[in-house]
Amino acid sequence: MKPIKVGLLGIGTVGSGTFNVLKRNQEEITRRAGRSIQITMVADLNTERAKELTNGECEVVNDANLVVNHPDIDIVIELIGGYGIARDLVMKAIANGKHVVTANKALLATHGTEIFRAAQEKGVMVAFEAAVAGGIPIIKALREGLTANRIQWLAGIINGTTNFILSEMRDKGLDFDIVLKEAQRLGYAEADPTFDIEGVDAAHKATIMSAIAFGIPVQFDKAHVEGITKLQATDIRYAEQLGYRIKLLGIAKRTPKGIELRVHPTLIPAKRLIANVEGAMNAVLVHGDAVGATLYYGKGAGSEPTASAVIADLVDITRLATADPEHRVPHLAFQPDSMNDTPILPMSEVTTSYYLRMQVDDQTGVLADITRILADSTISIDAMLQKEPEEGDTRADIIILTHQTQEKNVEAAIAKIEALSTVVGQVTKIRLEQLS
Ligand code: HSE
Repeated sequence: MKPIKVGLLGIGTVGSGTFNVLKRNQEEITRRAGRSIQITMVADLNTERAKELTNGECEVVNDANLVVNHPDIDIVIELIGGYGIARDLVMKAIANGKHVVTANKALLATHGTEIFRAAQEKGVMVAFEAAVAGGIPIIKALREGLTANRIQWLAGIINGTTNFILSEMRDKGLDFDIVLKEAQRLGYAEADPTFDIEGVDAAHKATIMSAIAFGIPVQFDKAHVEGITKLQATDIRYAEQLGYRIKLLGIAKRTPKGIELRVHPTLIPAKRLIANVEGAMNAVLVHGDAVGATLYYGKGAGSEPTASAVIADLVDITRLATADPEHRVPHLAFQPDSMNDTPILPMSEVTTSYYLRMQVDDQTGVLADITRILADSTISIDAMLQKEPEEGDTRADIIILTHQTQEKNVEAAIAKIEALSTVVGQVTKIRLEQLS
């Protein structure tokens, strides 16, 4: 059978990994795919570097349009990133009848509905295993391996940069700003780390997973996005004393009222396997009604780990390219005419547990005032820790863990607690999930 021809848009870290792994494992990949997969064109603005990386083995151009418009190209790999040029090129490739493989989570989380609709109409595939958790085959697991299940919830450490920073903060007792600088120096964080540290990257990935898990459209604009920039080493320490670790989790959860879709720092019991995922590693915990809890762990970024996911998509497309579009695995796991419109809940309606830290004057009755406010707001206390004042200080830290309650109850209680004259400054609130 004649080789399937691939055009690569962008030969940076992931692109060069894809080129190298495909070449290195060509023989085995061909045996798996049923025909040879060849990158025959590469588009990159830095053509000199692209020529060096590809050793003259394929045509190198500086205009990506030449690839998406080329009649011989069967599959386009988009590794440019962002929503601008990448979106135009993906839409052009689809319009030209080409299958697309992309690692672009930002593009899919915001424009996925338009892209998947166009692909459906044109009868081509858009594959995106590399867009979520790099080398971990979580899309395949959710869309196919767990297809028998009604997925109840998933929770993932899906951003390596922030997990590295949180691990360092815990190990070394350092504050966020110091660790961020160190992470940048070591190359774990980008020069502009905003998308990672503000939780946006994780929210893109959680949005994509929520669509596949629940059969809803991708709706990044409805996700609650909160990063780790305000997290203090003090809270990591107190959490530890109470038997918890703090992780930036992407959570998608089915509830009777709708879907919770949220990214925020979260206390999780230290004894859970996922709590022990350290450094830049990723992990996703998925709970299905039939299978129970399943955990997927691995490298969420990097040249060859991400290439592993890109090539898995190339093989999938190669195997399925000749199948009728209606007999392929649907892009978002559910048949396009069977998607549902279950709402994504506003944060005020979310139900979870909470870690609350406040600084108070060490006086009679302060604790009673605080617990009365919580009781009046129907918030039940699960655990409590009071740190005695330092020598010469008159203020004490109180840490309270609550049982599950609605976010709006906690917000109302916090406002009342902060209004007490004996409470100093603001109450620190971090959500807590048992993940059991
Ligand atoms: N910047 C991401 C991370 C990798 O730190 O995990 C690409 O999504």
